[in-house]
Amino acid sequence: MTSTQPEPTTTDAGIPVESDEHSLTVGPDGPILLQDHYLIEQMAQFNRERVPERQPHAKGGGAFGRFEVTNDVSAYTKAAVFQPGTTTETLIRFSTVAGERGSPDTWRDPRGFALKFYTTEGVYDMVGNNTPVFFVRDPMKFQHFIRSQKRRASNNLRDHDMQWDFWTLSPESAHQVTWLMGDRGIPRTWRHMNGYSSHTYLWVNAAGEKFWVKYHFKTDQGIEFFSQHEADQMAAADTDYHTRDLYEAIERGEHPSWTLKMQIMPFEDAKTYRFNPFDLTKVWPHGDYPLIEVGRLTLDRNPTDYHTEIEQAAFEPNNLVPGIGPSPDKMLLARLFSYADAHRYRIGANYKQLPVNASKSPVHSYSKDGAMRYHKVSDPVYAPNSYGGPAADTARYGEPAGWHTDGDMVRSAYTLRSDDDDWGQAGTMVREVLDDAERERLVDNIVGHLLNGVSEPILQRAFEYWRNVDKSLGDKVEAGVRAKQGEKDPKAAEQANPARESMQAKA
Ligand code: NDP
Ligand code: HEM
Repeated sequence: MTSTQPEPTTTDAGIPVESDEHSLTVGPDGPILLQDHYLIEQMAQFNRERVPERQPHAKGGGAFGRFEVTNDVSAYTKAAVFQPGTTTETLIRFSTVAGERGSPDTWRDPRGFALKFYTTEGVYDMVGNNTPVFFVRDPMKFQHFIRSQKRRASNNLRDHDMQWDFWTLSPESAHQVTWLMGDRGIPRTWRHMNGYSSHTYLWVNAAGEKFWVKYHFKTDQGIEFFSQHEADQMAAADTDYHTRDLYEAIERGEHPSWTLKMQIMPFEDAKTYRFNPFDLTKVWPHGDYPLIEVGRLTLDRNPTDYHTEIEQAAFEPNNLVPGIGPSPDKMLLARLFSYADAHRYRIGANYKQLPVNASKSPVHSYSKDGAMRYHKVSDPVYAPNSYGGPAADTARYGEPAGWHTDGDMVRSAYTLRSDDDDWGQAGTMVREVLDDAERERLVDNIVGHLLNGVSEPILQRAFEYWRNVDKSLGDKVEAGVRAKQGEKDPKAAEQANPARESMQAKA
C-alpha cells in the first residue's frame, strides 16, 4: 500500500469491511442476508443521525477563535478570562431564532451570538443576541412569544397575523420590534453585526466589590445590512448564505473580529437609577454608562465536523465563572434553568463530556453514571468523605455572586420607576438614532410585513402601537398600508382565512 492509498474502511468496531458498494446476498440476484452487520450498522446509524433541533435558534453556524484581553478591567472583575494579558480559546455559534434547521439565513429575525470561553476556571458561556434588548421582560411570556413566531397548529405555516397579534398585545415588545424592522433586522453577514449580552450581569472584583455590567461585542468589519428585497433574493439564491460567508472568509484567512466593550454601573446606582436597569426591553444610554474596552474576539478556525462541534455545542447562560454572576433580570434567571434542561433532552445527560462542551481546565465533580458517560468516576463518590475526594474551597469561592433580596411571594410586573415605560427608548431610536433614509426603510419594512396576512383588527392595533412609538411613524405606517391595500376590501381577506377568524374569535 502506498501512502496515497486511502485507509481501509472499517465498521464502527474497527473491523475491516469487505465492500463499500455491495450488500451480502444469496447469489448476485438473491435476497439480502441478516448477517450483513455492516449494512445494518449503516442503516441503523443513518436512522439515528439527527438529534432534535434546538427549539428556538435551530439554524446556525459557528467557528472557533480566541479572546484576547487588551485593557485592564481587573478593578471590576476577578474572572480569569478578563485578566490583563489573558488569551482564551473560544467557540461562537450564530443563529436565527424562528426558522428551522434548513430555513434561509436571510429571514428577518434577531441573530444569536452564543459564545463559549474555555477558561482556566471552567467553561464560561455568554449566550447573547445581535440586539441589545428583547421582546418580553418576563420569562412566562417567552414560550408564547416563540410560538407566535413559529408555525400555526392548523396549516403549519408561519403567520404574520399571530406575530402582530402577540406584539400588539405586548407593548413591551416595541423597542425590540422597532430594532427588528430596521436595517439591523437583516444583517448582511454574521461578520457585519454586533453581539450584545442584552442582559445585565454582575461582575465581582478580587476585593469582593460588585458592579452591574452589559457586554457589547462591536464588529470590527463594520455594520452592513441587506434590504428586504436583497434578503428575499438571497433567501432564494442561497439559503445558507451566512453560513457559507463565515466559512469561506475563515478559509480565505480573513479572520473576523469583534471588540468587546462593557457598560459598567456601580452596584449602588441600580437602586436609584431612573428606570429598572435589569429590564431586558431597555438599554442603558451610553451617555449614562459609556463603553469601556476589554478585549478582542477573533475567529480563526472552522469546525471540521459540523455535527460534533456546532450542532452538539451546548451553550448555557448558567455557565458563569468566579467573578461573574447573574442579575435580578427575571428573563436571565429563567434562562439559567432552561438551557441545561434543553441539552439533557436534545443531546443527553452527559452532554458536557462531549469535547466541544468539555472544560479544558480539570473537572472534579461528583456527577456519575447516566447514558453514554465515558469519563471514569473513581471513589469516593460522595461528599463529605474521609478518602481524599474533591472538597469545595469555600474560603476562596464561598461567596455567591449575588445581591440582597427580601419580600413577599407575588406574581407581578417589576416595580415601576419614573422613566419606566414601553415606548420611550423605541421612540428615541426612531427620532434620534435613525436618519431619514433609515426611517423610510423602517416604514417600508413595517408596511410590507403588515401587508403579509395581518387582519383588520390587528392592523388597527398595529397603527396605534407605532403611533405610541412615534406619532409620525404610526401615521406613515397607516398611510402606507392603506395606500397599498387600495380598493381591496379587508373583510374579503379575512373571509379567505376562516381559521384565522376563529382564532380571533377565541382571543
Ligand atoms: P447613542 O447615540 O449613544 O447610541 C445609539 C446606538 O444606536 C449606537 O450604539 C448604535 O450602535 C445604535 N444604532 C445605530 N443605528 C442603529 C440602527 N439602525 N438600529 C439599531 N441600533 C442602531 O444613544 P443612546 O445610548 O442614548 O441610545 C439611544 C437609542 O439607541 C436607544 O434608545 C436604543 O434604541 C438605541 N441603542 C442603544 C444602545 C445602547 O446600548 N445604549 C445599543 C443599540 C441601540 P453602534 O454604535 O453599535 O453602531
Ligand atoms: C437558544 C430558551 C431568551 C439567546 C435557546 C434554547 C432555549 C432557549 C431552550 C435552545 C437551546 C438548545 O437547545 O441548545 C430561552 C428562554 C428565554 C430565552 C427560556 C427567556 C426566558 C433568550 C435571550 C437571548 C437568547 C434574551 C439573548 C440575549 C439564545 C441563543 C440561543 C438560544 C443565542 C442559541 C444558542 C446556540 O447557538 O446554541 N433559548 N431563551 N435567548 N437562546 Fe434563548
